[in-house]
Amino acid sequence: MRLATIGTNWITSTFIKSALKSKKLNLQAVYSRSLEKAKEFADLHSAPHYYNNLEEMAKRQDIDVVYIASPNSLHFEQAKMLLKHKKHVICEKPIFSNTNELKEAYQIANDHGVYLFEAVRHIYTPNFNQLVNKMPKIGNIRSANLHYIQYSSRYDAFLNGEVPNVFSAEYSGGALVDLGVYPLFLAIKLFGKPVKFSYHPTILQSGIDGNGTLILQYDNFVCTIMCSKISQSYIPSEIHGETGTIIMDSTTPTALEWVENKSKKRTSFDVEQDELDMIYEIETFTNIIQTKDQKAFVQLKQLSETVLSITEAARKQNNILFGGEL
Ligand SMILES: NC(=O)c1ccc[n+]([C@@H]2O[C@H](COP(=O)([O-])OP(=O)(O)OC[C@H]3O[C@@H](n4cnc5c(N)ncnc54)[C@H](OP(=O)(O)O)[C@@H]3O)[C@@H](O)[C@H]2O)c1
Repeated sequence: MRLATIGTNWITSTFIKSALKSKKLNLQAVYSRSLEKAKEFADLHSAPHYYNNLEEMAKRQDIDVVYIASPNSLHFEQAKMLLKHKKHVICEKPIFSNTNELKEAYQIANDHGVYLFEAVRHIYTPNFNQLVNKMPKIGNIRSANLHYIQYSSRYDAFLNGEVPNVFSAEYSGGALVDLGVYPLFLAIKLFGKPVKFSYHPTILQSGIDGNGTLILQYDNFVCTIMCSKISQSYIPSEIHGETGTIIMDSTTPTALEWVENKSKKRTSFDVEQDELDMIYEIETFTNIIQTKDQKAFVQLKQLSETVLSITEAARKQNNILFGGEL
């Protein structure tokens, strides 16, 4: 299938490299707000076409799939326009700002016979499957501490008075939607929907959460999710069961161990995976498109709906409001 992209940051380059390596997608065109940057990016990745007008790119008949990696608040309008031009859309996390946008976009995708996916790369990897398969080994879950706490390369600019997109309410930024979604997707995949939840953020001057703790209450345990863009963690995440504990190097796991509680024996169970780990989501999405696997698509759609409904409610519990909501 033929791919076009939005965004010229490193994540779009990584997606393109992964797409080419997967052999599932060929790069047909790139979009940037600046024609000069679009040309430079097209040259870098050997794309035959480049645009600074998104609608012109969307009108091309020889593009099947568009990958969106723009600031979060722009995802919705861009996706809507592409879907209306019958392009399948792979949109970076967090897919949209709220569930109204999500509902409308999925309806448009359905009406135009195309698919819409949220790119959350870590839940498609071999090591994520390893994790899922190991869960029965640790018995009844009694607690989980999951986190994504990473000092942002853009925080210094914020401290100096700038407001980078990811720290801005106008661009739908903040720790929960940017980083917290990784452990949250993991928790929802492993444990399902929580009975209730609450979010406890540190709110920065720009109105978004610099960090926060999301507490997911399940019937017999609590999962604590910590996320931060203003501090750094050096410890692993853990899931505690009655018979064992799973230890993961991060909530986008590449190193996995489980410890049997009685013997204290530690066993690694991670596998080697491609460093370009976006390959796995690309394989899943292109497979769904090619085989029209409606069941798999609906499962992913429901997962995105669940995660977005939680982050939206968690924000609103704390009066963290994005552009259109102010
Ligand atoms: N899956 C992952 O591992 C991963 C990693 C990083 C980011 N992401 C996601 O990817 C998306 C982009 O993140 P990012 O950090 O690359 O964002 P960003 O640097 O703020 O913006 C991404 C691109 O959007 C364009 N852009 C920047 N500011 C803009 C503005 N004010 N108005 C319109 N376009 C603007 C720029 O492209 P042009 O100047 O060329 O138009 C830029 O290259 C986000 O949704 C983020 O959550 C995912």
